[in-house]
Amino acid sequence: MTTTTYAVLSEGLEKSFGKVRAVRGLDLAVAEGTVCGLLGPNGAGKTTAVRLLTTLLRPDGGSARIAGHDLVREPAAVRRRIGVTGQYASVDGDLTGRENLRLFARLHRVRGPAARVGELLDRFGLSEAADRPASTYSGGMRRRLDLAASLVERPDVLFLDEPTTGLDPAARNQIWAAVRGLKDEGTTVLLTTQYLEEADQLADEIALVEHGRVAHSGSPDQLKALIGSYAEVVVADADALVGAAGILDQLTGSEPVLDRDRLTAGAVTTDPTVTLPRLVRELDAGGVALLDVSLRPPTLDDVFLRLTERKELAV
Ligand SMILES: Nc1ncnc2c1ncn2[C@@H]1O[C@H](COP(=O)(O)OP(=O)(O)OP(=O)(O)O)[C@@H](O)[C@H]1O
Ligand SMILES: [Mg+2]
Repeated sequence: MTTTTYAVLSEGLEKSFGKVRAVRGLDLAVAEGTVCGLLGPNGAGKTTAVRLLTTLLRPDGGSARIAGHDLVREPAAVRRRIGVTGQYASVDGDLTGRENLRLFARLHRVRGPAARVGELLDRFGLSEAADRPASTYSGGMRRRLDLAASLVERPDVLFLDEPTTGLDPAARNQIWAAVRGLKDEGTTVLLTTQYLEEADQLADEIALVEHGRVAHSGSPDQLKALIGSYAEVVVADADALVGAAGILDQLTGSEPVLDRDRLTAGAVTTDPTVTLPRLVRELDAGGVALLDVSLRPPTLDDVFLRLTERKELAV
């Protein structure tokens, strides 16, 4: 039997700012060597959670162990084992890329700083621009420099707060590749994101954060299985839309969403007997003038909407 070692384990973490309870009972367990995605809308408490877990903020309550060290009692030990990249760039624009990294290396008393800095510049495709002021870098280059800075000390656990927000697809892909590379080397990564696709692409486990706590967690597939699949019908005209909606309602037992402009009706289903052929058959039998039918796994957007809707219904 193997026992899981958790690189991040928090219980009931709490943090308020005045009357705002930003984090209210955050329980997280991130196994060593895995990528955990903290996914949530604006204001959910993601950044506050990261700041708590990285000792930048002191919790009002609860406890956590990071890389085996107690967050509150051993903050210095925690800091030695982690790397952090904040939501907003922390590099100094007046310094060159190389100077920025050397500064971090000096701060952390890294041995052989020049070699380590050169290696990181190379790894993040910044060698050519290394001796230009960082203020001349593109957004993607700045993010890569930021990420490189958090790696100077070879952290065991890396915290990335919205590492790709505002980046174009190419720059985003470079960050994704870097995260995958780090995971392959055994680094544990906890990243926050508002991009459901990002969590789906990178995370072994996703924690949906809402109102300062984890509302749901699981692998991307588990979260998707929770809500089944999404059936969507494209019809020829507005009259057919009503017929299609009625049939979808009957088959899936969930209320269809209609888009009168696109002439689509869609509904979520967890019933495995609702297959594509069956959908086509029933719609045909109902005399619905069809243009297209699809049955696809839900995106994490669907998952998020559904799970948060459900919770709201439950309270
Ligand atoms: N320093 C602070 N002072 C007062 N309120 C704060 C502070 N930091 C965060 N908050 C509040 O705490 C809540 C959670 O904020 P947080 O930044 O953690 O959310 P987030 O999930 O990171 O959001 P975003 O997606 O916008 O980055 C929000 O209501 C925010 O206004
Ligand atoms: Mg944030």
